[in-house]
Amino acid sequence: MTGSILNSPELRPLRQSDTPAVLAAFLSNPDMRRQGDVSSPETAAAYVTHLLHSDGPHRAFAVVTGDELVGLVAVTMDAKNRNGWFWYWMREGSRGRGWTTCAAATIANWALTAGRLERLALGHRANNPASESVARAAGFIHEGTEREKFLVDGQRIDVLTYSRLRSDAVPTTTELAWQHV
Ligand SMILES: CC(C)(COP(=O)(O)OP(=O)(O)OC[C@H]1O[C@@H](n2cnc3c(N)ncnc32)[C@H](O)[C@@H]1OP(=O)(O)O)[C@@H](O)C(=O)NCCC(=O)NCCS
Repeated sequence: MTGSILNSPELRPLRQSDTPAVLAAFLSNPDMRRQGDVSSPETAAAYVTHLLHSDGPHRAFAVVTGDELVGLVAVTMDAKNRNGWFWYWMREGSRGRGWTTCAAATIANWALTAGRLERLALGHRANNPASESVARAAGFIHEGTEREKFLVDGQRIDVLTYSRLRSDAVPTTTELAWQHV
């Protein structure tokens, strides 16, 4: 996507005060269950605390409208190898607007420049075409298939793996602005 996006959201680092919005996002669609164990205020707080741990590997960024978190894009750093595992989600009511696409491109561009990583990788289930679309628009290239990796509702599901190197082309996808506080 290179065009304009609806009522463009912004990016800022995740905060502990985002906990209620994180819980709301996890409750917004059953497909969020695979993103983590969040089903109550307590588990939502633990999820956010884990991502914010100062010595931890996660760099988590909230996609916000005003100050309200609607989605998350994160990089789990493997500093020793200058690699990052890249992941994202968007609450049900804010999907289909190109917001995750633009947020993912912005964070991937950051991670491979100021973030000093040299390789980002991600995987998505073969039956998750929206995630594939986000990955490709954020400059990721298909690397392979992990055959029948997950057992979901009694069915074995392939996982498609992608990566983006610092030396790969920067996508033309519109970047989101960083929120100034
Ligand atoms: C995957 C997810 C992040 C996409 O969020 P989103 O905000 O809807 O994404 P965007 O609006 O930026 O883009 C979605 C793209 O997928 C496409 N898409 C959506 N549903 C689709 C479908 N069933 N088939 C094909 N393409 C589809 C849209 O057309 C759009 O592509 P485009 O920009 O080229 O038109 C969201 O569905 C989600 O949070 N899912 C649950 C968590 C998850 O699966 N995370 C990814 C883990 S790998």
